[in-house]
Amino acid sequence: MSPSETPAISFRELRMEFPRRRSRPLVALEALTLDVAPGQVFGLLGPNGSGKTTSVNLLCGLLRSTGGTVLVEGIDVRDDVTAVRERLGVVPQETALYNDLSADENLTFHARLYGVPRAQRRTRVNEVLELVGLAERRGDRVGTYSGGMQRRLALARALLTQPGVVVLDEPTLGVDVQSRAALWERVRRIASDGGTVLLTTNYMEEAQALADNLAILDHGTLIAEGTPDELRGRLGRTFIDVRGSRPDPGWSSCPASRGSPGATASPQCPRTEPPPPSAPSSTGSPSTTPGPP
Ligand SMILES: Nc1ncnc2c1ncn2[C@@H]1O[C@H](COP(=O)(O)OP(=O)(O)OP(=O)(O)O)[C@@H](O)[C@H]1O
Ligand SMILES: [Mg+2]
Repeated sequence: MSPSETPAISFRELRMEFPRRRSRPLVALEALTLDVAPGQVFGLLGPNGSGKTTSVNLLCGLLRSTGGTVLVEGIDVRDDVTAVRERLGVVPQETALYNDLSADENLTFHARLYGVPRAQRRTRVNEVLELVGLAERRGDRVGTYSGGMQRRLALARALLTQPGVVVLDEPTLGVDVQSRAALWERVRRIASDGGTVLLTTNYMEEAQALADNLAILDHGTLIAEGTPDELRGRLGRTFIDVRGSRPDPGWSSCPASRGSPGATASPQCPRTEPPPPSAPSSTGSPSTTPGPP
């Protein structure tokens, strides 16, 4: 990114503390500073509880930070959350679709909610349904969809408003290999069409396959940043396999910071997954989705 270019997303010394009843506040994010350049796929990688969803929620204004700022295309989310949301398409970790409505109804409702002009609604809904390969199932109740189909529909919903910046929070969690391939294909297409994608993931393979740049979070702290090749060169295989140094039952602590060789695979660390087969069908895309009212 050239120095004069405005980042698509900019985290500046971002801090998030959650109060707890009988102990000190939980620090979910500690001075996170990151720039995501326009037109790139940026991967935010980290184990459970490392702060990925918290970062996304701060980015869309669903949470208010306890320090620092987040800017989307130069706009501070605290100054103008509406303008920020207009620029964002978000697929949240929980898809928050209306199970009793069909795909078509979910998308039409969302289009109305987000001010897509009436004359364009039908065309846009059709486009995104085609994009995610759900056109034939458009009339079916979403509650009857498989997990992967729901993920794809959430992506379609996020793309309805044609956002410049697409945020995907663990888009392929629990998704089968085929649907994952389709989602990856869509993510690549968003970027090749000039969009910016911020993708959070637990999967090392996913981050390496998709991201132009990667940041690794652990316990709310940024521990490494670079291109997948740079990180591989710098961190080697320990990047994937090292067990965390801070014992914390039930959590993963991520790797790279320590870099000690010979560690065993940790269920908490970013996981490696077999890459999907060469992408088949097409998939859909996302939008800022506050969930059902
Ligand atoms: N609303 C909340 N209140 C209290 N603590 C929270 C809240 N939201 C998140 N946390 C805590 O903040 C930390 C970071 O959580 P976050 O959901 O951002 O992790 P994550 O990286 O998205 O994890 P996962 O991979 O499991 O989705 C965790 O310790 C979590 O318990
Ligand atoms: Mg999360």
